[in-house]
Amino acid sequence: MENILTGIRSTGVPHLGNILSVIIPSINMVNKRKKGFFSFIFIADLHSIIQTENIQNIKNNVYNITATWLAFGLNTENSVIYRQSDVPEVTELAWYLSCFFPYQRLTLAHSFKKEKDKKKINVGLFTYPILMAADILLYNAKIIPVGKDQLQHIEIARRIAYFFNKRIGKKVFSLPNPYLQEKYMFITGTDGTKMSKSKNNYIDILSSNEILKKQIMKIQTDNKSLEEKKNPDKDYIMSLYKLISPKEKIEKMKEKYIKGGYGYLEAKIALYEQIICKFSEERNRFFSLIKNKSLLDEILFHGAKKAKNIAIKRINYIRKCLNFNSLLS
Ligand code: TRP
Repeated sequence: MENILTGIRSTGVPHLGNILSVIIPSINMVNKRKKGFFSFIFIADLHSIIQTENIQNIKNNVYNITATWLAFGLNTENSVIYRQSDVPEVTELAWYLSCFFPYQRLTLAHSFKKEKDKKKINVGLFTYPILMAADILLYNAKIIPVGKDQLQHIEIARRIAYFFNKRIGKKVFSLPNPYLQEKYMFITGTDGTKMSKSKNNYIDILSSNEILKKQIMKIQTDNKSLEEKKNPDKDYIMSLYKLISPKEKIEKMKEKYIKGGYGYLEAKIALYEQIICKFSEERNRFFSLIKNKSLLDEILFHGAKKAKNIAIKRINYIRKCLNFNSLLS
């Protein structure tokens, strides 16, 4: 069976965009599988320190992300959930892989190009895609649920795997494929651009009612008055509402827009209520899990043990392929 693997950086609580595009589709896939350790879900805490100001919050964010996966129903019997830093073999592999990828090509990665004119960028940001390739290739994962912004990184992982296999003359690594949800490829944030942590335009459905309401109230609209007719196809409240509501409700809301006499404030309240209603169980589970740090620690501990067992076997094999036969292992 093909391995599934995905990671989320530990930079806060996953927002609606992360949840719809990666977490829910991954869980649907993972939970359908039979028991066995074929799905790897990890918290990319090593990646998160490319912004060193994240260091203080890493621990809390690891809990936030773990609790989110569990709250949305990840079955830990047929998956391994672990912290990236608990399996440092991945950093060793990242070094090997970095020697199999052309420098020039790495300078073309969007994640680097976007930032490269800033004065203070670090080498970690530059080599970020290599560590990501190591995350994937260490476990020979083939199916990688990600958002659209990560496609180029998966392509880099594929190329590295290909170069490595060719050089060594053996199929050491399988070539990974992205798993993308068309419908959720572009989830708009409160300002109408793609929802993202770094743009502070996200909706955090796992926050308190007050914060959630505030975030929803921030959604930008045109300045049509209450009475005026509105265009449901060109409105950010509606585009979020559509993602999480049943058909009948969407149709009703559309009608109200087109008819007029329905204000954006009312639409925002409807969106808020829909979120609370749709995710009430998950929200409750999240709030209780996040209070139970010892349970989260235990789950992460077991996950790390399983992942490490597999990683050690793999890294020993990779070392052999490179003619590193450690006297200690
Ligand atoms: N770079 C991903 C992100 O920012 C997180 C990530 C790290 C990841 N390693 C991975 C995702 C491996 C999938 C597979 O969203």
